[in-house]
Amino acid sequence: MKSKNHDKEMHDVYAKIYKDFYIFSEEALNYTRRIILKNLTESNISLENIKNLNVLNIGPAREARVFSELGAKNVFHFDISKTAVNALTKLKESDPIFSNIHSNLVDACAPGALKTEKKIDYVYLAGVLHHLHDPCQAIKNILACISPESKLFFRIYKSGSFGFYITDFIRKFITYDTQSEVHKTFSEKFEINDYSKQLEADLHDNFFVPILNLFDPKEIDKFFQILDFKLIHSDDYVSYDHSSIDHSSQGTTLIYETKNFELSKLSRINEFPSHLDQIEDVTYSEEFILNTNILMTRFLKNINLYRKKEIINLSIDLYKESQLYRKKEYQSSESNHLRIQKFLKNKYF
Ligand SMILES: C[S@@+](CC[C@H](N)C(=O)[O-])C[C@H]1O[C@@H](n2cnc3c(N)ncnc32)[C@H](O)[C@@H]1O
Repeated sequence: MKSKNHDKEMHDVYAKIYKDFYIFSEEALNYTRRIILKNLTESNISLENIKNLNVLNIGPAREARVFSELGAKNVFHFDISKTAVNALTKLKESDPIFSNIHSNLVDACAPGALKTEKKIDYVYLAGVLHHLHDPCQAIKNILACISPESKLFFRIYKSGSFGFYITDFIRKFITYDTQSEVHKTFSEKFEINDYSKQLEADLHDNFFVPILNLFDPKEIDKFFQILDFKLIHSDDYVSYDHSSIDHSSQGTTLIYETKNFELSKLSRINEFPSHLDQIEDVTYSEEFILNTNILMTRFLKNINLYRKKEIINLSIDLYKESQLYRKKEYQSSESNHLRIQKFLKNKYF
């Protein structure tokens, strides 16, 4: 069940960090064009073919615009954010070239929420599935709109990276109402530059977005196999790797196709894979990771003993340590854990 403030919080988190997306800045569009072209190639869809496709997209407007520009027949866009939907409505009003975009303000997880006038050939959900409060219902809603032959593209957060191990811990104690103190403390700790601005926007997303699920891609595969979808593209997956490598190790791409989808298949599914708690649900063999888990668990048990300022300071310090890959600084899994343990043992407590 979603929380009382879920819709507003989901909107506000992205309204704060996606301003450039909603005004369609050239930088935001260029990035999206590059990524979508790469993802279409991975999906075995040629530029020539796009004009035959009805696309379904959830997201902060820029992807829907790029699919329209690339010539999709129709782009059916849905989002829970009025800022995203308003951006596309304004865009359509300003230029009839975008009249193939149909944007709707909805919670994609509400039963029967997604209605499209045409059957969908390509579903594009990048960075969305792991933020849905009821992914099973959302997938049922989406699949109710697809044509018998269609493709599904998902970019998801995966369980097992060091960055998300730390984020998952912080989300157990940082609350939405501490936003202004978190940002104030962040600005006391860091000079403003391109690196710290990016770090702060990501921190805001990871700390405060109402839902952040970390999935095992293999479990997601099982879910789609039950529906007779075939995986046509995926990345390698190991259950965890806490060395710091590149950003892409935090997420993974899954692309499916089906040749004979029919609605009756939806009765085969009633549960989507769950979030994997990074302390409890991953089996670690290294002693240094088990030691960090012990320190984290102890901290959570005693959290009432610490002042709010100390807790906020710790969360920012840990987050910063978990993001060193952004500076292309390779850190072994052991060195990552020893630094985290130092913070949990000494710094404040
Ligand atoms: C992280 S963003 C996707 C970013 C996108 N890949 C991009 O780079 O442009 C997640 C999007 O999912 C939307 N969203 C989250 N939960 C939703 C729900 N239940 N129904 C509809 N939209 C939802 C958010 O409003 C947001 O626009």
